[in-house]
Amino acid sequence: MQLKIVIVKELAAGERRVAGTPETVKKFIALGAEVAVEAGAGVTASIGDEAYAAAGATVADRATAVAGADIVLAVQAPPADTLTGAKPGAWIAASFNPFGDRARVDTYASAGLEALAMEFMPRITRAQSMDILSSQSNVSGYKAVLDAAAEYDRVFPMMMTAAGTVSAARVFVMGVGVAGLQAIATARRLGAQVSATDVRSATKEQIESLGAKAVFVENVKGIEGEGSGGYATEMSDEYKAAQAELVSSHIAKQDIVITTALIPGRPAPRLISDAQIASMKPGSVIVDLAVEAGGNVEGAVAGEVVVKHGVKIVGNRNVPSRVAADTSALFSRNLYNFLSAFWDKEKNAPVLDEEIGNAIRLTQGGKVVNERLL
Ligand code: NAI
Repeated sequence: MQLKIVIVKELAAGERRVAGTPETVKKFIALGAEVAVEAGAGVTASIGDEAYAAAGATVADRATAVAGADIVLAVQAPPADTLTGAKPGAWIAASFNPFGDRARVDTYASAGLEALAMEFMPRITRAQSMDILSSQSNVSGYKAVLDAAAEYDRVFPMMMTAAGTVSAARVFVMGVGVAGLQAIATARRLGAQVSATDVRSATKEQIESLGAKAVFVENVKGIEGEGSGGYATEMSDEYKAAQAELVSSHIAKQDIVITTALIPGRPAPRLISDAQIASMKPGSVIVDLAVEAGGNVEGAVAGEVVVKHGVKIVGNRNVPSRVAADTSALFSRNLYNFLSAFWDKEKNAPVLDEEIGNAIRLTQGGKVVNERLL
């Protein structure tokens, strides 16, 4: 019996990505699986049905595609009741936003499906190629800088022209994880003068290696700022006060600020206050990449560009979806890397090990089983 892998069309509003590409379809078939793609699944990521068919997939309406599925792949897990027809215990590998949308996880349990939350992939070396947070954040960091440039009514590089000199934009990146590092690199490529900050002191060297200036709180307890798995922890009040003071004096001189700070499972830390926005020059632009997690910037609104004190605050939702062709290709490879790493040749199906299986599995046997959700 061949394992049936299904790539469904995304249902969430504004989601342009797709969880499989002709490239990954071919690779799954080479592993020994059969692949079905819901008609139209790739259109918003510039992939037509004929490209999937040429790669060897069956293209069909949703009910036909999902019928008898062993594994369903999606970018955002669809409501479980849109997957009736999949085999009992079928896997759905997708992002689930488990903390933000617990109700959806419960519906997967009651439907008897096995929900695999790709955003819970542990941050270990062998899982790097399966990490959707990294692959998508990387592109978000790039796009955030372009979004800032598009809203900014000046240029990024210094220009010496016959009509006089235009000075370089000053860009400040707050939160130097995967997205922040790419934002620094992108702003540098555009010719901006870049500085950056983070709570994890390990990032200082990374910032400097990209040719940007590191702006750091010194001599405060708990400065290392690193919790488990390379993620940030919530900082002490003393640290927060020192950080606010440092940022206040720095931010007033910036033209563009990109914020990316997140703490897993908690609301995003507030990094910029209304008073700090008021200290910036009119025409400055702030891009809040954490807006959907509660926002790093006071007054940022998800899905909108708001103007406060003459400063534009950009709060685009789902930034990876704005670069859907490339983010889909990366997301799809993450899924392929994941399933192929666990492929059992005899069973002709993936078999997860404990470390990764327990980390990402949310539901099994009709129950919610993930320890982070119990
Ligand atoms: P993230 O998206 O959770 O957070 C973004 C950044 O915001 C982080 O650098 C964090 O330290 C920072 N931040 C949090 N609170 C802050 C505050 N109050 N002020 C300023 N900055 C604040 O982090 P991301 O991008 O997912 O990466 C975190 C780390 O994990 C990185 O060191 C990365 O290299 C590592 N990583 C390891 C992987 C692996 O080994 N498989 C895969 C991906 C990332």
